[in-house]
Amino acid sequence: MGLRKENILLVDDDIDILELLQRHLQSMDYHTYKAVSVKEALYILKDTYIDLLITDIQMPEVDGLQLVKFADEHYPEMPKLVITGYPSVDGALEVIKSGATDYLTKPFTKDELKLAVQKSLVSDSKRKKRQPIIDSTTSNSYADMIGASEAFQKIMDIIDRVKNNKATVLIQGESGTGKELVARAIHYSGKFSRAPFVAVHCGAIPENLLEAELFGYTKGAFTGANENRSGFFQAAQGGTLFLDEIGTAPLSVQMKLLRALQEKEITKVGSRKAEKVDIRIIAATNSSLLEDIKKKDFREDLYYRLTVVEINVPPLRERKSDIPLLVDKFVQKYGVEYKDRLMRISPDALQVLQRYHWPGNIRELENIIQRAVIMCDGTINVKDLPENLKYKIDFPATGFIPLREMEKEYVKRVLANVGGNKTKAAEILQIDRKTLRDKLN
Ligand SMILES: Nc1ncnc2c1ncn2[C@@H]1O[C@H](COP(=O)(O)OP(=O)(O)OP(=O)(O)O)[C@@H](O)[C@H]1O
Ligand SMILES: [Mg+2]
Repeated sequence: MGLRKENILLVDDDIDILELLQRHLQSMDYHTYKAVSVKEALYILKDTYIDLLITDIQMPEVDGLQLVKFADEHYPEMPKLVITGYPSVDGALEVIKSGATDYLTKPFTKDELKLAVQKSLVSDSKRKKRQPIIDSTTSNSYADMIGASEAFQKIMDIIDRVKNNKATVLIQGESGTGKELVARAIHYSGKFSRAPFVAVHCGAIPENLLEAELFGYTKGAFTGANENRSGFFQAAQGGTLFLDEIGTAPLSVQMKLLRALQEKEITKVGSRKAEKVDIRIIAATNSSLLEDIKKKDFREDLYYRLTVVEINVPPLRERKSDIPLLVDKFVQKYGVEYKDRLMRISPDALQVLQRYHWPGNIRELENIIQRAVIMCDGTINVKDLPENLKYKIDFPATGFIPLREMEKEYVKRVLANVGGNKTKAAEILQIDRKTLRDKLN
């Protein structure tokens, strides 16, 4: 499998040992992840493909043998190397019985470590390739996609229903809601997953080239066409063609797409011979195609062809119950990626994230967490989040109030939030101090 570095997860409550192991293993060109407890290890295992687990036995709270037992059940093919301080026969027996592949007794030399790791990884290469994990603890998790809301569950249900057939799917949703991820989930969870998934951003290809890029062209079809070329349709043969931002496709191309969908055949630019294609089309849009139809920018007949199955991905603000899971996922992901360890988020910071209205949806949430992970050390606190997230008006539960009142309420709230610091409050409100003083009076 190429030159991918193997991922090794190190679990020990002793930071010094963790770092020593890390240094040794990195010098042997492995990629390492560190966890100081079994709980942290479980988080990493859930989201990361680990080639080898190395764990200590004695740790406060949950001990390493329990981790090995758990891993043996859930990741049976992952080799597990146990480090033990007790070279007794009984102890060793217990270690092996728990499902460990091998054990190493403390103290050990770098060479002993190297040998044990190599031995374990060889037993790894003999094993069958591990299937992508569909997390069984939260059943509504699908490869990379997670969520807990009813809306999310609905999307998962539709994915299940369409993944094994070639019905055309139209995915609609605001920018950053996860449309492409949905398309990929349909393709990769279904029975055509071994065939190609080809994504085309319709808006990114110049109009005069789109047709040639989609359907291919023959030599001499236009200036610069020096050879016969296949297009995206041919490239996706047997699999999925994902037409992103379909609303931006010019009308001339829309007509050709309609024909491709109706007849299941396409014609290269410059050719008169039609060829059969066998693909599933998934299209996505963040604009309202119905509006485009009214403006005559989008063909109605194509719209109906595309919407055999429709998936509406709601904006994040309409499914806030997904926020904690998403935050958790991104905190783990970027913690491991940037800091090589697990990070946490304080309940206050999470609350701020839950109150915000997320105009940029999940992509915005991901960016903010990514930034916060880099800025903080260990725990993400409110101070690590961008200022504009922190001030949100809760509308009164009963009836509405005049704008003037609302403004007063809001100014007071901002002021309270910055501990009465008028300069800071004025800065956030983007008014000068005098205006602020007037408003307070
Ligand atoms: N349910 C989810 N679970 C985990 N990550 C998600 C989920 N939905 C979206 N994301 C992440 O959010 C980001 C944006 O998703 P994606 O690119 O699929 O959105 P999009 O709707 O295609 O956006 P755009 O319209 O801007 O192209 C990606 O990094 C994606 O991995
Ligand atoms: Mg997209």
